[in-house]
Amino acid sequence: MFQLSDYKESADYIRSRLNGFSPAYLLILGSGLGVLADQARGPIYIPYSEIPNFKTSTAPGHAGRFVCGELGGKPVIIMQGRVHFYEGYSAEEVAYPVRVAKLLGVHSLIVTNAAGGINLGYKAGDLVALKDFIKLGLPNPLIGKNIPEFGPRFPDMSYVFDKGYFKLIKEAAAEQGIALKEGVYFYATGPQYETPAEIRAFRILGGDVVGMSTVHECITAAHAGMKILGISLVTNMAAGVLDKPLTEEEVLKEAEAAKDRFARLLLNFLQRV
Ligand code: HPA
Repeated sequence: MFQLSDYKESADYIRSRLNGFSPAYLLILGSGLGVLADQARGPIYIPYSEIPNFKTSTAPGHAGRFVCGELGGKPVIIMQGRVHFYEGYSAEEVAYPVRVAKLLGVHSLIVTNAAGGINLGYKAGDLVALKDFIKLGLPNPLIGKNIPEFGPRFPDMSYVFDKGYFKLIKEAAAEQGIALKEGVYFYATGPQYETPAEIRAFRILGGDVVGMSTVHECITAAHAGMKILGISLVTNMAAGVLDKPLTEEEVLKEAEAAKDRFARLLLNFLQRV
């Protein structure tokens, strides 16, 4: 269990590296999507390994550092890579950077991920603006003693994804000529991809995309009163939709192919927000 003092220690260290720069937006860039960080102006790089209490990502396509700077004219702190529950970290550890960002003055979370398409109207390469998520059962980053400085014991999750941001990202997509679907993110711990029977069940339950990240960060950010935008890139159709096995190579290849489109969309959003 982390204490408020742990989060403060991490935030103080990061602040000491920022030369007065004050980020307002936290961007979490998922598998293979870290390229957007290269466009940050006046970048300051802080590897997670240098920050007290931080965990380092072991997943492929995750660089493992903060990039702080201006993007689309907005002061951002970008996570180039994140840690996942399936790597063996607790849900609380996975969401740790969100609270640190909150202490740095960040008011909004923009979270991206690679995901499998459950919705039969989707195809690989689609971008999906998240309306909601489903996380059945454990793990949960808020279990344990509540830290009231961040938020209440029983936080509301009726409006996790900000309606205003949802509207803005749709406008950004329209202006850029980028197709943008909307859907519900279904969390599965991984690291194995799901079975076809699981995917059929998730579809019945209302999931449109499935992935192994994002929900812990969103729960923690919503608890702390942050505004959230979530975007999934469909890197593959989920298990059983197409008659072929799923591979990590396919996920990273699709992320690579979509990265410029994804970057344009998020830049346009940041310019509008
Ligand atoms: N399932 C879970 N996570 C994923 C997938 C998938 O099919 N594709 C990319 N991340």
